[in-house]
Amino acid sequence: MAGRVIDLIGKPVSLIPTPALIVETEIMEANLRRIADFFTHRPANLRPHFKSHKCVTIAKRQLAAGNAVGITCAKLSEAEVLAAGGVRDILIANQVVGEGKTARVAELAGKCRLSVAVDDETQVRELSAAMAGTGASVGILVEVDIGMGRCGVPPGERALAIARVAELSKGVEFLGLQAYEGHCITVLDPAERREKVVASMLKAVETRRLIESSGLPVQVLSGGGTGTYDMTGTMEGVDEIQAGSYALMDCYYAKRRPEFGIALSVLTTVISSNGGDHAVLDVGVKGVGAEFGVPVLADRPGDEIPFFKSEEHTTIKVGGEPLKIGDRVRLIPSHVCTTCNLHRRIFAVRDGVVEAVWPIEGSGCLE
Ligand SMILES: Cc1ncc(COP(=O)(O)O)c(C=O)c1O
Repeated sequence: MAGRVIDLIGKPVSLIPTPALIVETEIMEANLRRIADFFTHRPANLRPHFKSHKCVTIAKRQLAAGNAVGITCAKLSEAEVLAAGGVRDILIANQVVGEGKTARVAELAGKCRLSVAVDDETQVRELSAAMAGTGASVGILVEVDIGMGRCGVPPGERALAIARVAELSKGVEFLGLQAYEGHCITVLDPAERREKVVASMLKAVETRRLIESSGLPVQVLSGGGTGTYDMTGTMEGVDEIQAGSYALMDCYYAKRRPEFGIALSVLTTVISSNGGDHAVLDVGVKGVGAEFGVPVLADRPGDEIPFFKSEEHTTIKVGGEPLKIGDRVRLIPSHVCTTCNLHRRIFAVRDGVVEAVWPIEGSGCLE
């Protein structure tokens, strides 16, 4: 199969076997340029999030686009894939727990500049123990919960207490804080979003000032995403923006961030049709992430997807031009991150021709 896929380079999109993940390269490139340009002459930088596409080629292009200090990822196995692909500065924006995993952190820290989020002294001690004798060091960001109610300590003294433990522990280096405003990042109204985001992030900035006033330097406050890059990213005291979705986008984020084009779609084939109001595509929830809603049909405004629950089928209520068996239809997913995790490769397309086939090295990297 791999050989046959490579043979498609230079060939028309119509020859790609479906269902297939497609990226319009030109749209993606414009997205990368747009956000990189935003951070020119601004104190904060990007640390693009790998979990959105899980493709090392795209991560490297995000770095090459400029104003990016490294890559964020969600999982240790993603960090390993990034390091193997040559990325030199990686943040695992999550807690890494368990002896087997901390041993892998220690090994990885010898190969790249690695930092990890923590929200308890236990994680710091486990990381420090794993680093013993390696001669390397792993960076520590203390995660502060600024309202999402996921991981993280409350703003204030608890973060300072963990920072002190990190400062005194061997093999780890206290670098600063992580705070993710995920509870308000997709608020539809931009003014309301800004108000909520700034109020939340201020708690992290205040925690930073508390730690600094105790005499501990804070090098980094990392957070933010596509919905907030121009809100969190312009706040004094915030250094890094972990945006990821902006590169490829989806139909859910497009309503919140119209300045980025939708580069991602899933190319499908009509496998059944009554020639009238009913047609079926060859993909379902095994190829299109749907937790933010039903995907949207590209270029077919009269059609509807009444439900989206089958594993391998999408049923269309055809309201526009009839669909014939063998027709090609593109679906725009509601969630880029889970969609990319379902695929092994991306077909990069320019002007209707396959330009490249990029492996999605991080697909299925869950641990
Ligand atoms: C820790 C963290 N940072 C940043 C993001 C932002 O990603 P996006 O660009 O999709 O808004 C997320 C999204 O889930 C996240 O979990």
